[in-house]
Amino acid sequence: MSKNRSSFTGKLGFVLAAAGSAVGLGNIWRFPYLAAKYGGGIFLLTYIILAVTFGFTLMVAEIAIGRKTGLSAIGAYKALDKRFSFVGYIASVVPIIILPYYCVIGGWVMKYFTVFITGAGHSAALDNYFDSFIADPVEPIGWFLLYLAFTAVVVFLGVEKGIEKVSKIMMPVLVVLTIIIAIYTVTLDGAWQGVIYYIKPDFSNFSATTVLAAMGQLFYSMSLSMGIMITYGSYMKKDVCLESSVRQIEVFDTGIAFLAGLMVIPAVFAFSAGDPEALGKGPGLMFVTLPKVFDTITGGTFVGILFFLLVLFAALTSSISLMETIVSIFTDKFKIKRRTACLAVIAICLLLGIPSSLGNGLWNGIRILNMDFLTFFDFASNSVLMPIAALITCIFIGYFIKPKTIIEEAEIGGKFKNKALFTVVIKFIAPVCIVLILISSVLVAFGIMKI
Ligand code: PHE
Repeated sequence: MSKNRSSFTGKLGFVLAAAGSAVGLGNIWRFPYLAAKYGGGIFLLTYIILAVTFGFTLMVAEIAIGRKTGLSAIGAYKALDKRFSFVGYIASVVPIIILPYYCVIGGWVMKYFTVFITGAGHSAALDNYFDSFIADPVEPIGWFLLYLAFTAVVVFLGVEKGIEKVSKIMMPVLVVLTIIIAIYTVTLDGAWQGVIYYIKPDFSNFSATTVLAAMGQLFYSMSLSMGIMITYGSYMKKDVCLESSVRQIEVFDTGIAFLAGLMVIPAVFAFSAGDPEALGKGPGLMFVTLPKVFDTITGGTFVGILFFLLVLFAALTSSISLMETIVSIFTDKFKIKRRTACLAVIAICLLLGIPSSLGNGLWNGIRILNMDFLTFFDFASNSVLMPIAALITCIFIGYFIKPKTIIEEAEIGGKFKNKALFTVVIKFIAPVCIVLILISSVLVAFGIMKI
């Protein structure tokens, strides 16, 4: 264990830093469109149940592994059991797949921020605005490059602390603004139908894809199964209570996702009467509905500017932590300079990010397993690699190092109230669920099941 590993000053510092990585586009952009698409209330319910059982267990496990070993993913698994070092590698591939398309979406947010700040918000409310923007072969790539450059400069100069400070102020503002927008959306004409769709579980909408999507979203949103929480855990002091920190991160992350859904889904009903096609819009949902909401508010341009600026910050803290993780994996593993590692990450982002953008227009005909590039990368990371890493982690903890190793670590800084839940989930429930998830992913990949 390295002695001079820096650590977070206290519990609040830890919770805020982990929440900074967890809260991002996953909550504000991805959660609402999945909830809209996969059955509304039933998706929300499935997600919450998974978060408090499964998400809780995995997050406790990852943070404890990090804190126990004082190492990040690859080293941590190796230190606990040499035969399991490969899990660290699987987990390391995930951020490499996510970062490029994360920057594509980050670019969309930048574009919308600029549209609003130049006073053109009204045009963004028009039908087809979003679709024709992402289908353009040049413009979205420009925004992608700009967003990537921004992230890279911050990581390159090592000034993420500055960004983090700013985002600690911005984050609470984002929460307040989201609440205000949600209240406004909910009171729009016809929106109530949407609130009901979003909150009331309709069991006839339930299917295996609901669980598949909810579980993938859980990994994504809580930054699980990609080594990130292990790294954060390695910076956590021993006297901080692990269980309550995890609860707080979870409540924060899920709370923001819930509010984002409340802001977006009722708007779909207000503007298109819950048309299934509008609900199933997918990645564009937030970009299509929110400008319409802002268009009806007096002072909507200002609200739009503020909103997209805040989302941009939430996204940046996440993409910075993604890039930082990859850079540190590269520097440790290949013994290269930070600068070289940054350049390598940029090259990978260009290689995977440009097709992700073009896949929405020019290259829409090129499909992998019948998915465009962005959807494919999203699917490969959230529905395939993360479940695999999570499954092996559960088996590793449940049957090799034993749950008690994690429980002991968690009890150093305070009581671990839910250790019975933890043990049952990690040994039995989680492995079974994940295997089912993986089976459905395979069925989706081969077109037997529809996602
Ligand atoms: N959890 C982040 C989000 O919800 C995404 C992310 C994943 C960020 C992994 C960092 C690391 O947007």
